[in-house]
Amino acid sequence: MPIKAVVFDAYGTLYDIQSVAEITEDAFPGYGEIITQVWRIKQLEYAWLRSLMRRYQDFAAVTRDSLAYTLRMLGLAYDNAAFERVIEKYLHLDLYPDATSALAALKPRKIAILSNGSPDMLGALVRNTALDRLLDATISVDAKKVFKPAPQAYELIGETFGTAPNEVLFVSSNPWDAAGAKSFGLNVAWIERVTPEAMALACVENELVAPLTMFRAIRTQMDELGFAPDHHVRSLSELPGIV
Ligand code: LAC
Repeated sequence: MPIKAVVFDAYGTLYDIQSVAEITEDAFPGYGEIITQVWRIKQLEYAWLRSLMRRYQDFAAVTRDSLAYTLRMLGLAYDNAAFERVIEKYLHLDLYPDATSALAALKPRKIAILSNGSPDMLGALVRNTALDRLLDATISVDAKKVFKPAPQAYELIGETFGTAPNEVLFVSSNPWDAAGAKSFGLNVAWIERVTPEAMALACVENELVAPLTMFRAIRTQMDELGFAPDHHVRSLSELPGIV
C-alpha cells in the first residue's frame, strides 16, 4: 500500500527536548541537567496519568505543572520571571539538524505533526522554526482531550487526511509513542537516537549515573509492550529511503 502521509511526533522526534538544558542551567546554575531530565520524565507521566484519570488538561498546563514539580522537588526558590523564561523555551526548541531536509524529501506526500502539544504551543513552535512552510497539518491531540498513546489520538490522522492507517507512516523517537502508533495500526518508523552500546559506555565511564544517562535509560530504548515498529532507523535522513 503506497504511503500517502508521513506524520511525525514533535517533542523528541523533530525537536530536541534536551535543548532546554541551556536555559534551565542559566536560570538555576548547577541544576540545569537534573531539571531538564526530571521535567521531561514528569511531563510525560502527567500526560499519561491525566489520560488514565480522565482529568485532561492541555500539554501547556502539563508542561508548567511538571516544571513546578521539578523545582519544588529540588527545593529551588524562583520568581515568575525565571519560570516563564524557562517555559518560553518550549516555543523555541531546536529542530534536529536533518529535520527540514528529511521533510522536504518526503514531499509530495502529505507531511504533518501529530503531537501531545497544545494547539498554541505547536502553532508557535512550528512558526518560530519555519516548519509551517513544509507541514500540511499540525495536529494536536487536544481535539480529543486525551494524550498519545491513546488510540483516539491517532484517529486524528485519518480524520485530517482521509487516509487509512496502512496508508500512513508514523515517525517517533519516543518508544511509547511508536508502540502506541503500531498498536493503533499505523506503519511506524522508530528513530533510535541512543544505542545500548552508548548507554553501556555512559554507565561505566562514571561512578555516578548522570541525570541525562538515567533519562536515556528510561526513555530511549523500545519498550516491552508487544508492538514493535516496522522500521528502525537512527536518523530522520534515513526516512526517504524506506517509503
Ligand atoms: C509529542 C511528545 C509528547 O507528542 O512526544 O510531541
